[in-house]
Amino acid sequence: MQTLILPRDERTQPARIVAGYPQTPWRNPAQPLVRRAPTLSELTGPLGIAGRVGLLGGDIAGHGEKRAIGQLIHLKVRVLDEDGAPVGGSVVEVWQANAAGRYIHPNDDDHAPVDANFYGAARLVTDGSGAFELRTVKPGAYPVPTSGGWWRPPHVHFSLFGKVWLSRLVTQMYFPGEPLNAQDRILNAVPDAAARERLVARCVPPTGDPYNALVFEHRIVLRGRTATPEQS
Ligand SMILES: [Fe+2]
Repeated sequence: MQTLILPRDERTQPARIVAGYPQTPWRNPAQPLVRRAPTLSELTGPLGIAGRVGLLGGDIAGHGEKRAIGQLIHLKVRVLDEDGAPVGGSVVEVWQANAAGRYIHPNDDDHAPVDANFYGAARLVTDGSGAFELRTVKPGAYPVPTSGGWWRPPHVHFSLFGKVWLSRLVTQMYFPGEPLNAQDRILNAVPDAAARERLVARCVPPTGDPYNALVFEHRIVLRGRTATPEQS
């Protein structure tokens, strides 16, 4: 059986061990990987995953008195395969900090206020053109615990399922023009500048549509030469 697993491109994927990022040794294999033939379910699944998990709406910013604090943004994302074809039906999980840089998570407990109107997560599915949209607020930067003063730039986390299990991607999206981008240890663990650029969204000129939101466009490529780098 022909394998679908492509060799890892060390130029366009992040270094496995990132200097100054103490969690990386236990998030990456310590031994060389063993190649094996994919199983049938890996080549044909997931089937109907969008129907088996609960989808959450594409609006996590809230409205009126329930509106989250922060700059309202609208993300327009397209998910593509290695040939540039849209990946429809891809389940996408999204999570991000609130405008003050705080996650709703027990590990995030010490520096910034919780926003009662912002949970910060969504689960969506791409349409036939590979697109999904999210109305949210721009996440704040936050300091990384035990890192000696390193702050993460504003970013949004994505976990995507492609057409088969082997095309799952966990990555992050950054915002253009952020001064912290240049010193972020996770973003800059990707050696290739063009690959890093593929992780940065594009701010499109405001048109008033959708009303009162800054619009960012982004492309995520699941595999191949122009694949979006992993970011965990
Ligand atoms: Fe994060």
